[in-house]
Amino acid sequence: MKKAIALLIGTVMLFQLSVGSTAAYEAPKLEKDEWDMYYESLIEGNTLPTLNVGADQTQVNLCWHCDKDKAEAKVEVSTNSDMTGAKTFTGTATASENDTQVVCRVTVTGLEENTTYYYRWYTEKGWSEPEKYETKSFGDHKALVVGDIQIAEDWRAEEEVNQDEIGHNWNNVLSTALTQNPDISYLVSPGDNTSTGSTVNEWQTLLMPEALRQLPMALAIGNHDKKGMMYNYYTSMPNEYYGNFFAGLDRDFWFRYGDVLYLFYDSTSGNAPDHMAMTKEAVKLNPDAKWRIGVVHHGIFGAGDCIGDAETEILLSTIFTPIFESYDLDLVITGHTHSQGRSHFMQNKKVVGTAESGKTYTDPEGIVYLNSNSVCERPINESYEAEHLAYSFLENDVTTYTTLDFKGDTLALETRRGDNGELLDSVTIERTTNEHNENSFGNVLKRAGYKVIEVLGFIYTMVDNLVRKFS
Ligand SMILES: [Fe+2]
Repeated sequence: MKKAIALLIGTVMLFQLSVGSTAAYEAPKLEKDEWDMYYESLIEGNTLPTLNVGADQTQVNLCWHCDKDKAEAKVEVSTNSDMTGAKTFTGTATASENDTQVVCRVTVTGLEENTTYYYRWYTEKGWSEPEKYETKSFGDHKALVVGDIQIAEDWRAEEEVNQDEIGHNWNNVLSTALTQNPDISYLVSPGDNTSTGSTVNEWQTLLMPEALRQLPMALAIGNHDKKGMMYNYYTSMPNEYYGNFFAGLDRDFWFRYGDVLYLFYDSTSGNAPDHMAMTKEAVKLNPDAKWRIGVVHHGIFGAGDCIGDAETEILLSTIFTPIFESYDLDLVITGHTHSQGRSHFMQNKKVVGTAESGKTYTDPEGIVYLNSNSVCERPINESYEAEHLAYSFLENDVTTYTTLDFKGDTLALETRRGDNGELLDSVTIERTTNEHNENSFGNVLKRAGYKVIEVLGFIYTMVDNLVRKFS
């Protein structure tokens, strides 16, 4: 009864805060005591749904836990708030991390742009309340990047930052971003979504913000997610690629939205042959995508522990940058260092063109690497200088977010503070052609040479899999 009352209070409170908002998203910024009440009302549960991006802009994936005896993997979608004329989509119910629930996964297809939909999913108590989902433009559009959300159940006690507070930060950075940018279509997270990767409460907290019923997420796997197996039970990513040698949680995935092909890599895996194979397959299926964007957890050319760090220098830059470069990616989004940073245009580990804040660059050589700050607060505040860095923001106790604005031939990156929305950094890339040069002599040669890395990566992966199996 106590829980039910708390839930009711939290829901009413959110409803009250949402009423009158003209923004497309219901994403209220909450004071800490308001958040605490909301948090307490939900933390004991395990049925909040995850809305994930679909294989393209006409699809979304929904995933939720449900009592195994009452579960039916079905979702209704209507353009009417009373759900009349709804279309039913069905999916799968598979084993969860516990004995009493299953995980339902349903893909909704056939969505049209600039349309207001209402959807509900089937719970152990029958249909959920309808949630609103508004599609935006399928051509020009805007994406949101927030990294290292890293909801932590027990990790940060010594630093007096707990799960509840990280959840509060998470809710409020979403609120700032979505209030300032109601035209955002989806969220990109470069991983470390959770801290131990092994508790229900971390995912329950991550899924709490009301905005996430309306905002599909694309979530990369980070080293902290990989400490457990929970990512398996709370996500439903499109085009998951398990390859030949991935094990456990490992997988890559890709999706297409408008003119953009996103390639998500599990950078905790040194499995070079499968990373390369996924890239080849995704690019082959999307030859007309104007933009190619990579997403990996580990910061390769960011701010913080990047260059000079053995893991990044030897393992990650050797495995990933040849793939990114030989497939002519435009932008790579990273995290892990908990420091906001953006590189100049990089190639062969060198700056091949400057990318100064506030400027536009047409058909540049090289790749920009955007390293996101964290939500979980990690006050390093060390000065950090590196030749590759065009911009850095080291006040790590302040959240930040970045928008990717795809408009015509341009991609504009804007990074802003998560508390007050102040603009910190921006750069625009103009691409006057949809052609990519992955079949140039140099890039074909680069991939031929990469066969050595594939063999070494394969050996490393096999050893790593054995170590994990017996540790
Ligand atoms: Fe990390």
